Order: sequence, then structure tokens, then C-alpha cells
Amino acid sequence: MTLVPLLSVRDLSVRFLLPGGRRVDVVSDASFDVAPGECLALIGESGCGKSVLASALLGLLPANARTAGHAHLGDLDLLTADERTLARAVRGRRIGLVPQSPAAHLTPVRTIRSHIEETVARLTGVRGRAARRKAAEQASLRAEFPLGHLDRHPHELSGGLAQRAATALALVGDAPLLLADEPTTGLDRDLVDRTVDELRRHVDDGHALLMITHDLAAAERIADRVAVMYAGRIVELADADAFFGSPGPRHPYSRGLLEALPERSFTPVPGLPPELGNLPAGCAFAPRCDRATDACAALPPFENTVACHHPVPADTSHAIRTPEDTRA
Ligand SMILES: Nc1ncnc2c1ncn2[C@@H]1O[C@H](COP(=O)(O)OP(=O)(O)O)[C@@H](O)[C@H]1O
Ligand code: SF4
Ligand SMILES: [Mg+2]
Repeated sequence: MTLVPLLSVRDLSVRFLLPGGRRVDVVSDASFDVAPGECLALIGESGCGKSVLASALLGLLPANARTAGHAHLGDLDLLTADERTLARAVRGRRIGLVPQSPAAHLTPVRTIRSHIEETVARLTGVRGRAARRKAAEQASLRAEFPLGHLDRHPHELSGGLAQRAATALALVGDAPLLLADEPTTGLDRDLVDRTVDELRRHVDDGHALLMITHDLAAAERIADRVAVMYAGRIVELADADAFFGSPGPRHPYSRGLLEALPERSFTPVPGLPPELGNLPAGCAFAPRCDRATDACAALPPFENTVACHHPVPADTSHAIRTPEDTRA
């Protein structure tokens, strides 16, 4: 079944202009779609450009950033929309942001109820105390935030409840697209699973979700499709079942990420990611790649599901070593 995308990103690039005329290409030629009722997980190591990509979609980049390409949300191009449109019609209303650290997102001296009611008033125009109160309680219930905790302050909440409060805020405007940037950072595994399952519920309700994470277990639990980012480029875009199951990832970096998991071979990808301001010519993964050849001095085009001159063959890539294999 072909899904009609809600968000359609094409050749999105973001560069930062630095003092002295230097520039850093943080996101390069990213293309992907997200459809209603679908979760796309954007995964990759810290510093590869995931949050900058999210900021570009929300129009929240700093002044020294320059963008190119397109990011269509319906008929609106998020990259060229003016700040007034983004503030009034997009953030909160068409894109709900589930933030990375809910505690930092919430004002310490205000109760959760006051946060949610203020957002209800701003986004929905609901007037009158009783109506605002009811709308805030409905948003809380949608996020499974217990009504008995609404009059608490952020510091009185556990990490999981603070995350639900932030999710309630993201759901107030009933935005069709949810953008979650590392929503499970700092949570223990149990809470990661619960947070992810709650977000999945909103996808199953028909929301589109772009979930940014470096937690592959969380991505496997929630995603329909996976986009792997390395040094600012999307190097693989695959169905989650194929990626995490069989035939497995095709890009050597994606395969390395999976093999690094404790439940797989627990072998980290050797070396470190390159500095984005100092990328090698050609494939940026080449210094860390055991499949690299002279051909990799040229930038690999994105073909089918992968950007690689020598992708892992589909029939062997699922043969990811287990710790038992490694010992044998
Ligand atoms: N305002 C800025 N000026 C220059 N570089 C920046 C700026 N903001 C972010 N960066 C750089 O962009 C890179 C990607 O950052 P980010 O998107 O936060 O990574 P991720 O979310 O994948 O961990 C980082 O190396 C960071 O130093
Ligand atoms: S293009 Fe070459 S260096 Fe880059 S991931 Fe593929 S095989 Fe490795
Ligand atoms: Mg980030």
C-alpha cells in the first residue's frame, strides 16, 4: 500500500556560516517522507545532524544557518515559510513537538495544569475557565497524564510523568505531525518502552511521527521505517522489518550500528565520526569502513534504499554475528 505523505522532504541541506568565512555542512541532501499513521525513525550517532534537521523543519535554526531544498507539509514549504506563519499556524498546530528534555521545557514555578491551559488558550482559542480546564484535562488523558497530578510542579514529577506532561502539551493542538527529538533520553529501559508505546498509540490513531533517536531498541519498537544518518547524510532508508530482521541493513554503517547492540555482537563501530566542518571527499564513512575501495573516494549516490558503492549483499546482511558466533 502506498501511503500519501504528510511531510515530504527533498534535498534538504543546512549549513552554518562561521566567523572567518568558514562553513559547516550539517545536513546534506536529506530526502524522506512521513505519512499519517506511520512512524519514521531517524537514527544516527550523536552530532550527525538529527536535531539540526528537526530545527530546520520547525523554522528554529539560528541566524547563521542557511537552508536549501524543500520540506512540504501539505501545500506549505516549511523552509521558505515566514516566521509569522510558522509561529501562528505550524508549531503546535500542524507540528507537535515532543521535546528532548521535558524538565527543561517546563517552567519550574508553574503547575502542569497552568502549562497545559496556557497552551490550550494559545493554540485552540478556547475561552472561559471551565472550557479551558476541560480541554486541558482531555489533552492530559490523551497523553495518559493522570489528572490527579495536574496541580503538581515539574520537580514533583517522575521522569516518566514529566515526559507525559510534555507529550500532553504536544497533543493540545491536535497537530497531524508529531516530531519527537530523543524523547527517551535519560529514561530507564522500562520507561523507554512505555514512552515509546504511548507515542506509537498516537501513530495508530493516525498521527504521522518523525522520531529522532540514537536508541536503536526504541526505534525497533516503534518505527515502520528507518532512516540512518551519517555525517549529515541519510545513508539508508528502509522498512523497519527488513532493517531489524531479514535481510537486515545494507549500509556498512547501519550494519555496524546494529552489531554494536549488546543483544547482537556488542562490537562498536571502529573509529569516530568525522567533524562536519572537515569532511573527507567522497563517502564520509570510508575511514571506518571495512568494505571501502578506491571507488569510495567518489560520493556514493542514493540508489534504491542505500547510499553506498558496495552495499552489504541482501542475502548475507542478516547474518549478524551473535556473541556465540564471535566466541566460536
Ligand atoms: N549554530 C551552530 N553553528 C555551528 N554548528 C552548529 C550549530 N548548531 C549545531 N551545530 C553543529 O551541528 C552538528 C550536528 O548537531 P545536532 O543536529 O545537534 O546533532 P545530533 O542531534 O545528531 O546529535 C554538531 O556537530 C554541532 O556542533
Ligand atoms: S561507499 Fe564505500 S566507504 Fe562508504 S560505506 Fe559504502 S563501501 Fe563503505
Ligand atoms: Mg540531537
